[in-house]
Amino acid sequence: MSLNAKTKYSGFAMLLHWLIAGLVIAQWLISIRAEDAPTREESGAIMANHFALGVVIFAVVVVRLVWRQISPPPPQNPDHAAWERTLSRIVHFAFYALLLVMPIAGWIALSSFGEPISVWGLFQLPALPVPQNPDLGEQIFELHGASGIALLVLAAFHGLAALKHTFLDKDGTLYRMLPFGSAKG
Ligand code: HEM
Ligand code: HEM
Repeated sequence: MSLNAKTKYSGFAMLLHWLIAGLVIAQWLISIRAEDAPTREESGAIMANHFALGVVIFAVVVVRLVWRQISPPPPQNPDHAAWERTLSRIVHFAFYALLLVMPIAGWIALSSFGEPISVWGLFQLPALPVPQNPDLGEQIFELHGASGIALLVLAAFHGLAALKHTFLDKDGTLYRMLPFGSAKG
């Protein structure tokens, strides 16, 4: 490793990473609260926040992907095994794929009920011109829910892997995504 090797993400990339992580957890908590709501009306009112936040997450992920082109990630730690580096790339790719596809699938599903997405009354995404088909909408939402669980399982695995590398292997992986501390690589 050269002393000048870049081992950290840019400050803006760090900000976007932790913002996206926090919003995804919030998105999950909202869906749980909606499921536990005593009436359909209350559940719908809570889910309206989930729909609006989904639009926000999508936009932040697009900003993240544009920024990734402008300021690419640091090279992977060459001390990590080849399979670890490949797995890490696959997981990061899966995160971005899910974070783009899930809100679009949600929008298509809601559109098949003929419903627009209101982003807290600030603006609306109109229903897409898809055939009205509530059964199909339900099926897409079910797939969306399953993808949401997959995303959370992946996030838990990803977070635990970062902690294992940092505190057991002591290679500073976590500090690649934090403005303090030093990371090998
Ligand atoms: C990146 C953005 C999004 C993420 C990360 C996300 C994540 C999730 C998660 C974790 C669940 C809970 C799954 C479960 O506990 O079974 C869920 C459920 C749900 N989401 Fe999203 N969501 C996003 C965007 C959207 C959008 C934009 C819509 C609609 C326009 C939407 C509609 C729904 C619905 C209706 C459910 C209940 C699904 C069911 O199990 O039937 N989501 N979402
Ligand atoms: C929903 C939660 C999370 C999501 C969606 C997520 C997503 C991602 C993505 C997409 C990357 C790749 C960044 C890029 O190259 O553009 C990344 C990197 C990273 N994440 Fe997360 N993350 C989450 C939670 C966490 C947690 C809880 C931790 C730590 C405990 C963590 C630690 C890291 C670290 C250290 C990196 C840099 C890894 C490297 O340099 O190869 N993330 N994360």
